[in-house]
Amino acid sequence: MPNYGDKNYWEERYDEQSGTTFDWLEDYESIKPIIENLGIKKEARILNVGCGNSEFSEKMYDEGYTHNYNIDICQNVIDFMKSRNKDKKGLHFDVMDVCDMAYKDETFDLIVDKSTIDALLCGDHSFMIVAKMLKEISRVLKTGGYYIIVSYGQPENRMIHLERDHLAFETQIYTIKRQEDDEQEKTHFVYICKKLPEAIENLNNFDLVYKELEQEELDGAEDEEEQDDNNTDNDNENKEEYLPPEDDKKIEKEKNTIKEGFINKNIVKENTVGQ
Ligand SMILES: C[S@@+](CC[C@H](N)C(=O)[O-])C[C@H]1O[C@@H](n2cnc3c(N)ncnc32)[C@H](O)[C@@H]1O
Repeated sequence: MPNYGDKNYWEERYDEQSGTTFDWLEDYESIKPIIENLGIKKEARILNVGCGNSEFSEKMYDEGYTHNYNIDICQNVIDFMKSRNKDKKGLHFDVMDVCDMAYKDETFDLIVDKSTIDALLCGDHSFMIVAKMLKEISRVLKTGGYYIIVSYGQPENRMIHLERDHLAFETQIYTIKRQEDDEQEKTHFVYICKKLPEAIENLNNFDLVYKELEQEELDGAEDEEEQDDNNTDNDNENKEEYLPPEDDKKIEKEKNTIKEGFINKNIVKENTVGQ
């Protein structure tokens, strides 16, 4: 299993895939009804974190969302996306770590995270890294703005991160369900997180949250050592395994499950979780 949390993995992958695009999990067309339903204005300031070589932002731009910022940790993919979109004024691509962003507080109306949190959850020290990532996202998001996560991760594995004490989001959870060739249903989750006013003060809790997670990781590593002396696998137990994109390609979009939905026949509201 590749290390999806590792920058080197992505750099090599983007070298291999040079000159091509790929959208993880869902494309713009399938998320568009959610964005429209939220009433995001065309002049909104939008950030896509871990944009990769996805066409999501350029499609959004073509629909009129022309204040569109994109970051990724990999120089090679940003160079490619920049040259591909050089004629699109207002569509920006920059190399930046989502855990340490150069933007000012309260800059963006909407932040899109299409499977970037999933990738970081597959890496080392994943819980601490994701706490840092969410601290930065909360910081640069305007109060009342939305952070949309498109993820394969189920609520029980994502809400623990979104509900930490340094954050304050009201989160609505939607599912996007499709049937695969073998008639098995495949579900992706969309977390729509609205930044609440108390989020600004809660950011002061970050150091404490981070220290606690660090301690938990140390305790977990000790327990593991005690329990299994023969275990040669050094991965920390919080690491997730990532769904290979090849599986996603098997999805036949015309075989969408027909369900009565809140937004459309595929996008079904599951839950709202407040603070
Ligand atoms: C699963 S891919 C998703 C790409 C794209 N969002 C999509 O939907 O197709 C994860 C992306 O996160 C980027 N990434 C990983 N760690 C990052 C970090 N710390 N800061 C910014 N981007 C990161 C990777 O380079 C990769 O492009």
